[in-house]
Amino acid sequence: MSARKIIIDTDPGQDDAVAILLALASPEEIDVLGITAVAGNVPLTLTSKNARIVCELAGKPDTKVYEGCDRPMGRELVTAEHVHGKTGLNGPVLPAPIMKVEDQHAVNFIIDTLRAHDAGTVTLCPLGPLTNIGSAFEKAPDIIEKVQEIVLMGGAYFEVGNITPAAEFNIYVDPQAADIVFKSGAPIVVMPLDVTHKALVTKPRNDAFRNLGTKVGIAVAEMTDFFERFDKEKYGSDGAPLHDPCVTAYLIQPELFSGRRINVEIETQSELTMGMTVADWWSVTGRAPNAIFIGDIDADGFFSLLAERLSRL
Ligand code: RIB
Ligand code: CA
Repeated sequence: MSARKIIIDTDPGQDDAVAILLALASPEEIDVLGITAVAGNVPLTLTSKNARIVCELAGKPDTKVYEGCDRPMGRELVTAEHVHGKTGLNGPVLPAPIMKVEDQHAVNFIIDTLRAHDAGTVTLCPLGPLTNIGSAFEKAPDIIEKVQEIVLMGGAYFEVGNITPAAEFNIYVDPQAADIVFKSGAPIVVMPLDVTHKALVTKPRNDAFRNLGTKVGIAVAEMTDFFERFDKEKYGSDGAPLHDPCVTAYLIQPELFSGRRINVEIETQSELTMGMTVADWWSVTGRAPNAIFIGDIDADGFFSLLAERLSRL
C-alpha cells in the first residue's frame, strides 16, 4: 500500500515533537507533504522554530515547514508555557535550526495542496489549535470535499478539560475554528484527552527511549522528563500523556485504538464552557454523527511502536 500523504499542523510542544518524529520515522506509511506551524502552546515564531528543530533532529532538513496563523480566528491567543516551558521545547538542549521556513503562508499551502491532489488522497493531522485549518476551510470551502480525513488531537468528554473545567487546550484556544472544522462535513477522527491520558510515559517507557542511546531517543526522554511535571502535579499521573503522537500512531496502526462514531459539537457562546467538545457518546440528541471519537488505546503496543520507530532515526 502506498504511503499516506499528510499535512501535519502543529504547535510544538514536546508531544507535537514526538508526533512529528514518529511520522518522519515512518516513510513506508506516511508521506509528510509539509508541516504547518500555528500559534498555540507558544507563539508562532517559536512553534515555527521548534518544528524546524525537530525536523533537523530527525535528520530530515528537507521537510517543508510553513508558518500559519499567529492568533486564533476570533479570540486572543492563550499559550501554555506553564506546561511546555518558555521555548515550548524545554528539556533537551537542541541546536537552533539552519533550515528556513517556506515563503508561502501555511493556510495557502493547505489550500493549494488539497486543490493540487485528487480528492481523498490528503489527510490533515492537526496537533494544535485549529486556526490554520478553520481559516483554510473558510477561505476556500471547495477544498473540504478534497480532504481524505482529518485525524486531530483535541477535545475531551469523560476526561473533562485540561485548561478549563470544560475544555481541552487545542479546542479552547480557537473554538471558532474548531466549530468550522467539526461542522465542515469532512471525515474526522478525534484523539481526545479520554484516550491520550491513557498514553502515559511511565519511567520504564521513558527509560526505553533513553536506552535507545541515540540523539533522538535521549532528546525524547529529556522532553518527556520536562513535560511530565505538570500532569504529575495536577493529576498525580504516572508520567506525561503523549497526546499528539496518538494521531500519527493511528495512521500507522489504527488497530491500537478504539472509539465510537458520534456527534461532537463545539461550545462557542458561553465563556463558562467555551471550547467544550459536547460529545454525544450515548446518542441522546439525534444529531448526525460527524466524528469518530477515540476512547481507548493499547498503550503497551503504542509505546512499542514508538520506541521501534524512533530507533530508526
Ligand atoms: O491539550 C493537549 C494539547 O494541547 C496537545 O496538542 C498539546 O501539545 C497542546 O497543544
Ligand atoms: Ca500540540
